[in-house]
Amino acid sequence: MKRTLILISAAVLSAALAGAQTKLSKDNIDEVLKAMTLEEKATLCVGGARAAMVEGVTSGLVNEVPGAAGNTRANARLGIPNTILPDGPAGLRINPTREGASQTYYCTGFPVGTLLASSWDTDLVRKVTEAMGSEVREYGCDILLAPGMNIHRNPLCGRNFEYFSEDPVLSGNIAAAYVNGIQSQGVGVSAKHFALNNQETNRNEDDAIVSEKALREIYLKNFEIMVRKSGPWTMMSSYNKLNGEYTQQSHDLLTKILRDDWGYRGIVMTDWGNKAGTVKAVIAGNDLMEPGNQNEIDRIVAAVRDGSLPEADLDRNVRRLLEYIVKTPHFNGYRFTDKPDLKAHAEIARSAAAEAMVLLRNEDGTLPLKGVSKVALYGLGAINFIAGGTGSGNVNKAYVVNMYEAVHNAGMVPDESLEQYYKSFLAYNSATTTMVSGRQQSSMWTSSKQAEIEVPAAAIERQAGVNDAAFIVISRNAGEGGDRKVEGDFELSSIERDLITNVSNAYHKAGRKVVVILNIGGVMETASWKNLADAILLPWSPGQEGANAVMDVLTGKVNPSGKLPMTFPLAYFDIPSSVNFPYYNAPSQQIDRATRQPVSRKDVDYTVYAEDIWVGYRYFNTAHKAVSYPFGYGLSYTSFAYSKPTVKAAVDGFTASVTVTNTGKVSGREVVELYVSAPEGGLVKPERELKGFAKTATLAPGESQTLSFSVSAYELASFNEEVSQWETAEGNYTVEFSSDVQTPLASATYRQKAAKTFSVSAHACAPKQEFERLTVNRQK
Ligand code: BGC
Repeated sequence: MKRTLILISAAVLSAALAGAQTKLSKDNIDEVLKAMTLEEKATLCVGGARAAMVEGVTSGLVNEVPGAAGNTRANARLGIPNTILPDGPAGLRINPTREGASQTYYCTGFPVGTLLASSWDTDLVRKVTEAMGSEVREYGCDILLAPGMNIHRNPLCGRNFEYFSEDPVLSGNIAAAYVNGIQSQGVGVSAKHFALNNQETNRNEDDAIVSEKALREIYLKNFEIMVRKSGPWTMMSSYNKLNGEYTQQSHDLLTKILRDDWGYRGIVMTDWGNKAGTVKAVIAGNDLMEPGNQNEIDRIVAAVRDGSLPEADLDRNVRRLLEYIVKTPHFNGYRFTDKPDLKAHAEIARSAAAEAMVLLRNEDGTLPLKGVSKVALYGLGAINFIAGGTGSGNVNKAYVVNMYEAVHNAGMVPDESLEQYYKSFLAYNSATTTMVSGRQQSSMWTSSKQAEIEVPAAAIERQAGVNDAAFIVISRNAGEGGDRKVEGDFELSSIERDLITNVSNAYHKAGRKVVVILNIGGVMETASWKNLADAILLPWSPGQEGANAVMDVLTGKVNPSGKLPMTFPLAYFDIPSSVNFPYYNAPSQQIDRATRQPVSRKDVDYTVYAEDIWVGYRYFNTAHKAVSYPFGYGLSYTSFAYSKPTVKAAVDGFTASVTVTNTGKVSGREVVELYVSAPEGGLVKPERELKGFAKTATLAPGESQTLSFSVSAYELASFNEEVSQWETAEGNYTVEFSSDVQTPLASATYRQKAAKTFSVSAHACAPKQEFERLTVNRQK
């Protein structure tokens, strides 16, 4: 009897406890944390997407939104919902169709990151990302795995199209606008890949060996600006190592720099993998493992039990995860519609693309086109227009407008014989590919880019006699998992070179113009052939409406106002990092006979950033090395004059302004780039560095606008790695208002009265001694 009573009361008690179980709310995070078992905590720190994929779970978890890359796991007992984490960054990436559903779930293919950055327009980026964020929310997701924001260290990096710039100030400010736009929609971002994921070759293991100065001034600076100006909900640590340690396991990076120095308050998740050092990652401050595996949960649980993982570290991460979860639409019970306004967003994608593309060349006012109604379109890219790159950065969009459709839409007529020629080749090619491989490949990883085909010179001559102008589309595609090559990618292929030469000869003989359209994802060589074209437009990979946007610019409906977010060098080996970047196919793994250990391969297992801070224009400009197109360059159909440059000392740093007047005949917009040259002496600095930028509204001919800037003393500082601190020297700083890095149009002087220093976590992520050996002759 007594025994039964005890049993009953235990049951009653546990039932009562179960009934009273605290459920997560915004103000009881500590209480929920206390109620969690060790297993529950570990489970929350590990995504469930891989489990769902492996076990074929069809309800809940990631399959709730098929095609989303990852999730966080639900805990019904504690009222914790799962949250859904799809890719980015050129739009939302989910599956467009679902089994048994007649509805489609297409998303808008927006311009890629590099094109957004080419706008130099934070309002434009914000408008695009507000639209993108609303698709994330209305399709029932919580986070967009974006923006991608690694620095363009080298043009061959296969993912540069997702990233913004070679300059951290441009990259950081564009990224901040991107994050603010997405998060204004009640969903979050995951800014990636933190940090130094500057090459795709062996990206999982490559060790980036970088000086503390280059880290702070270049590779982390853009993340710092973005974190301070936008407060992303989440960040994604990268796959690679940094100075000997995986970034996801680096306490220096994820706690000292990110949180202590910059004040970051969100969560950090790993990039998609499963490294053995899960416990080290937890301790470092990497809160979430993605896509998540049971063995990661097991490792966390075992380590707490054996004392190698302090439970306080786990609790800290779990608390941050709960703080993230209570902000999400899933937690707040948002009733999504599955019906974002795709029509309105297509319009936004089109106008943003047109506003951002860069006009590189325009001889004798070739553009906007005049008296052109019949157009010959050369290049397979005219049909297979590249809207965006491959891999996780690809978006499943309902359509991509190609150049033939866009030419029609602009009221012109494309040459039909050429269209037939290219179409038959594509049809033949796809039939034979299917015959050889027996199946079509997955669209995520294959590029829609095919090798160019020859057009016989005689045909070109005939076409030149019957068309008013020629457009040559040069297209490139790249993506996650691989870097580009120099031959036939950074450089033109021989077929492309012949095409440009033959078209140029024939059309010029017939008195017709030749326009080259660079439908590419990363920088390419232009110096050897640019003189053959009358005009060159750089739309990058401009999204699903990009071809219409190209025609908006070519016809003058939109006056181009984009500028280059990086340098176009004369040749690949002019780039300082070219000698320390995978150039040839990765050498195969070799074993050292004596030690029986794998030999570490240069640029594959480790990459030395020997060029230090001399990335992009910082090098070309300071070394006075000629380039094909300088950083910040871009033409307009009108002209601008700068006047009344002013610089005033502020409580902290200075404010500046300049008046821009449209001196041409058509309306247009101008980007003003503010560069600062530091006083002589002191730390090594580039000749000039970008410290701010602003863009006018559309100015009618004769109209003026005054643009303002403000730069703090901290923003003027350079990093002194001997003592590990930021230093702003006293003295006179030259402030230049420039239309590109080589063209200052007005200037003024700022006097910094006293030197200033700013401390940081000392020598965090600093390289080991090995670095000094590998980078002899480095200037500090
Ligand atoms: C990529 C990330 C992406 C993730 C999820 C990784 O391979 O590097 O950028 O967000 O996959 O798809």
